[in-house]
Amino acid sequence: MITVMGATSRIAESLIGRLTELGVPCRALSRRPDLVRAQPAPGSEIRYADAADSSSLRAAFRGAAQLFLTMTNGPAQLELEARAVDVAAEQGIGHVVKLSAPMAAPDSPVAVSRWHYAIEEALRATGMAATILRPYAFMQKLLLLAPGVAEHGVIVGSSGAAACNYIDCRDIGEVAAAALTRTEIAGGAYVLTGSQTYGYPRIAEMLGDLRGAPVRYVDLPPDEFRAHLIERSGLPNWLAAHITEIQQLTLTHPEHPTDTVAHILDRAPRTLESFLAENAVAFRARAVTR
Ligand SMILES: NC(=O)c1ccc[n+]([C@@H]2O[C@H](COP(=O)([O-])OP(=O)(O)OC[C@H]3O[C@@H](n4cnc5c(N)ncnc54)[C@H](OP(=O)(O)O)[C@@H]3O)[C@@H](O)[C@H]2O)c1
Repeated sequence: MITVMGATSRIAESLIGRLTELGVPCRALSRRPDLVRAQPAPGSEIRYADAADSSSLRAAFRGAAQLFLTMTNGPAQLELEARAVDVAAEQGIGHVVKLSAPMAAPDSPVAVSRWHYAIEEALRATGMAATILRPYAFMQKLLLLAPGVAEHGVIVGSSGAAACNYIDCRDIGEVAAAALTRTEIAGGAYVLTGSQTYGYPRIAEMLGDLRGAPVRYVDLPPDEFRAHLIERSGLPNWLAAHITEIQQLTLTHPEHPTDTVAHILDRAPRTLESFLAENAVAFRARAVTR
């Protein structure tokens, strides 16, 4: 049995959808099983599990052969994922597909990447087989820009015109499904990107076309950007710091696309153009109704 954590997430939803197409049942795990939208294949189960609660993980992992491990970013991430890894090993799971991040390393300037490195090390230490997915920025996160674009025609960032990789979460889910169902893919470490990079000035142009009115990119120095995220967008300090660190990383470590998604899925990755077009309505100013 394949167990899938974070079953309400976009990536797990796509993963479960792909398993369903293949007729492969799974055990979809969530803290909120009633909110799981994916339709798993016959023979599947949807169950409660919380990584804060070892006994729920034990019950959820019992008898399973493989695990897809994903976790919300946050100060508790390392503890939660490390617990899931320990319980998976204890329950005899043989293969874990872990959603990680690019450049996960002990000396990464991005705190979240250091957490991912520590979790990967914990996973390696158990002796379970591991597949590591290293996606770059999720296209779906660009929807967070939608209110500023729709209402003010503005994007605020701190990465200048640096070229950034984006990937559609649905492609990540399909790669995860490949790792769980194809032995030649299992066990690798994969850097996942779309097929081209985009800088914020280019994204502003693309959104301007969709919005039917110009979108301006405002570039701030890192400290001002972090303060903007805390004071204007109401983000917690750690998240504002994380976003600022990621944006600085794009300046110090130029990003290039890989052909990994095309190689594994035997088709081109979804494009940012098509993702933004699918979501155009979110970026358009709402008509005011009285
Ligand atoms: N955002 C990016 O651009 C990006 C880029 C590269 C890598 N990543 C990595 O991708 C990972 C996932 O990011 P995301 O944005 O997809 O995360 P997300 O949607 O915020 O969270 C993924 C899932 O984590 C599960 N979760 C949270 N707390 C849990 C707990 N206590 N026990 C069990 N499950 C729990 C939730 O599932 P339920 O609510 O269903 O329980 C949630 O659906 C992160 O670790 C991040 O570092 C993100």
